[in-house]
Amino acid sequence: MKKALALFLVLALALTAVSAGFAQDDLSGELEIFSWWAGDEGPALEALITLFNEQNPNVEVINATVTGGSGVNARAVLKTRMLGGDAPDSFQVHAGEELTGTWVVAGRMADLTTLYQEQGWMEAFPADLLDLLTYEGGIYSVPVNIHRSNVMWYNPATVESLGIAVPATMDEFLAACPAIQEAGITPLVVGEAWTVNHLWESVALGVLGAEGWNGIWTGETDPAGAEMVQVFETFGQVLACSNLAEDAAGLSWQQAIDKVVAGEAAFNIMGDWAAGYMTTTLGLEPGVGFGYAPTPGAVGTFMWLSDSFGLPVDAANQANTLAWLSLLGSVDGQNAFNPLKGSIPANVNAVAAAPDLYNAYLQSAAADWSSNALVGSLVHGAAANERFMGDFNQVMEIYLSSGSAEAAASAMAAICLQSGACGSSM
Ligand code: GAL
Repeated sequence: MKKALALFLVLALALTAVSAGFAQDDLSGELEIFSWWAGDEGPALEALITLFNEQNPNVEVINATVTGGSGVNARAVLKTRMLGGDAPDSFQVHAGEELTGTWVVAGRMADLTTLYQEQGWMEAFPADLLDLLTYEGGIYSVPVNIHRSNVMWYNPATVESLGIAVPATMDEFLAACPAIQEAGITPLVVGEAWTVNHLWESVALGVLGAEGWNGIWTGETDPAGAEMVQVFETFGQVLACSNLAEDAAGLSWQQAIDKVVAGEAAFNIMGDWAAGYMTTTLGLEPGVGFGYAPTPGAVGTFMWLSDSFGLPVDAANQANTLAWLSLLGSVDGQNAFNPLKGSIPANVNAVAAAPDLYNAYLQSAAADWSSNALVGSLVHGAAANERFMGDFNQVMEIYLSSGSAEAAASAMAAICLQSGACGSSM
């Protein structure tokens, strides 16, 4: 109780200082930020840190990163640190159960509702997103972006030389596959294990549609039913057009994209951090150096996820963290970060404040976000709890080792039951 009261007082004082605008020069000491945005994934975060340093010259930022796409390695390190009493001041976490079902239920995160009120943020973020950050009436992190998971990337020159149209449906993709293979090009490149799961969620969306996908999480789609069997059968056909049996396991998501850029592969399905990589790191122009389309069968559907940062109750530098979070949610922070990251801002006021910062891809993503059907990503934390996400790897192993769509679908039903992630009818 005493600890909670002390934390409340620190937060109240720090918030008063931050919102009064005089805190910046007064802040000192350290701020440790933990994420998986290392190397090629780093520039957007580094832009935010630069801005933070300008505003808070006396704070030393420690940018702690653990390499590994989609946080596969970082989450394990974070768990060890959090449980070992060594919480970073702020860490990257996907909006959804990855935040609320893991750290918030365990009482490890500070309620940031007061910060939201002070900053005028209650209307600045989409309601769907705020829902994923909220637990029992409190708001527990600040979102930096909205990423799209279901994008298919290609090199316009390769597609042109193959004389094919960009497939809009799974059937069109499968029909184009043999001709692409005959040309000596991999139709669809995948990388290490999580990128195969990432492909699966787009195939599932293409087969089930937005309603059917959402139905998995409400109990309306039978996880062991004929439709789910169809998902795995189609997934198998798509994988037969890929490099899975060859070099996939050794490729990071960036290396898979490199193969598309080099013309060795025709398509790759990846979230739009790939747009960030191709524009910011490779210097390519959207629509010229690389092309993009919704994944086959999912035109008009935006599968989304959001990266956010919060304040662990045990963080050593609470006031510095609140200044960091204030920057993250602000229009300036969002506009420093998102144009480099390949994501659109979570703050609804950001694009209009600086539209020129957003390239053709990002403009199209922003238009789709506001007009498409929205569905949550499984692989990136928005759709299901962590238990389901972890167990889903076993479903994938069962499918990849047995090749049986029926066995995979019944394993899906089993993990639905065990995790309670698939709605009340399970
Ligand atoms: C996602 C994350 C993105 C990007 C990607 C690849 O989970 O939300 O921001 O980092 O992983 O590592």
